[in-house]
Amino acid sequence: MTDRIEITRPDDWHLHLRDGDMLRGVLPFTAAHFARAIIMPNLVPPVVTKADAIAYRTRIMAALPSGADFTPLMTLYLTEASDPDDVAAAHGEGVAAAVKLYPAGATTNSDSGVRDIAKVYLVLERMAAIGMPLCVHGEVTDSSIDIFDREAVFIDRVLDPLRKRIPELKIVMEHVTTKDGVDYVASADKNLAGTITTHHLIINRNAILAGGIRPHYYCLPVAKRETHRLALRKAATSGNPRFFLGTDSAPHADPAKEQACGCAGIFTAPNTLSCLAHVFEEDGALDRLEAFVSLNGPACYGLPANETKITLVKRDTPIAYPDRIETGAGPVTVFDPMFPVHWEVET
Ligand code: DOR
Ligand code: ZN
Repeated sequence: MTDRIEITRPDDWHLHLRDGDMLRGVLPFTAAHFARAIIMPNLVPPVVTKADAIAYRTRIMAALPSGADFTPLMTLYLTEASDPDDVAAAHGEGVAAAVKLYPAGATTNSDSGVRDIAKVYLVLERMAAIGMPLCVHGEVTDSSIDIFDREAVFIDRVLDPLRKRIPELKIVMEHVTTKDGVDYVASADKNLAGTITTHHLIINRNAILAGGIRPHYYCLPVAKRETHRLALRKAATSGNPRFFLGTDSAPHADPAKEQACGCAGIFTAPNTLSCLAHVFEEDGALDRLEAFVSLNGPACYGLPANETKITLVKRDTPIAYPDRIETGAGPVTVFDPMFPVHWEVET
């Protein structure tokens, strides 16, 4: 039985770090295990321009624990007023790795997002020309569309037409939650990849709704039915280079989640790698964990894999993660996978 694996140090291709006290509270958990992360720009106000990204990156670096080896890969929040020259300069000067498309109103702090995709064609064409990837929150916001169908409808109405219009644009469909999404990413001929979160490999919608409403399992895109979770598991553990980890670890202080209209987001940074090792072992795919967490992402983004390694060790007794962490912005509940985890990153 394998009880120890060494893998290339992983990266997180979709992460929310927030700002201020929350940033200082959550960043050490990611920096302890991951070398790089794609940092989501949905602050209030959002990170739109090159100057915004430089300032945010500076705040992240200042919040890093001393001695940490972590590089934030910044993204720009796409608005209908985004300036193609500024976006191109941010990429050319190594400030921003990608641009993030939030359909307006799709999720937390997405009000400045895109209402009419035609209004951002100029920016997207420029990105295609310079090889800058677009990260996509793939859900329509049309209130007549059932929330469980919003990803599949986004593919038909927005993503597929966009890919046909600008085939050279590199797109990452983030946090894929459906079999439809998995099949679409797997079948694309080029320039499309998908990230998958840790929690969507573990929970289905029963975790949120059966036997009581559990706000700490609520995120967007919302977890779907079991058939979709199984499709995600198959994709993640397959080794297919188009799929890689984007945790979407999204901390909110507990009072903001535990209320009549609670925020979307699951905080998985502390125990993500423990949970993933469990999932991959359960599916007989421990030998493909490294591809998912450390190799496929950099290859897609045109970056080298990390040179350093981490070791995961399987302990005899379960690892005791805290139920919640304390931050200067309040307590934040840690994702509970509802099974004991024995794998731990050796430090
Ligand atoms: O659950 C989510 N939380 N999904 C998102 O798309 C945004 C994120 C957040 O910022 O809290
Ligand atoms: Zn997110």
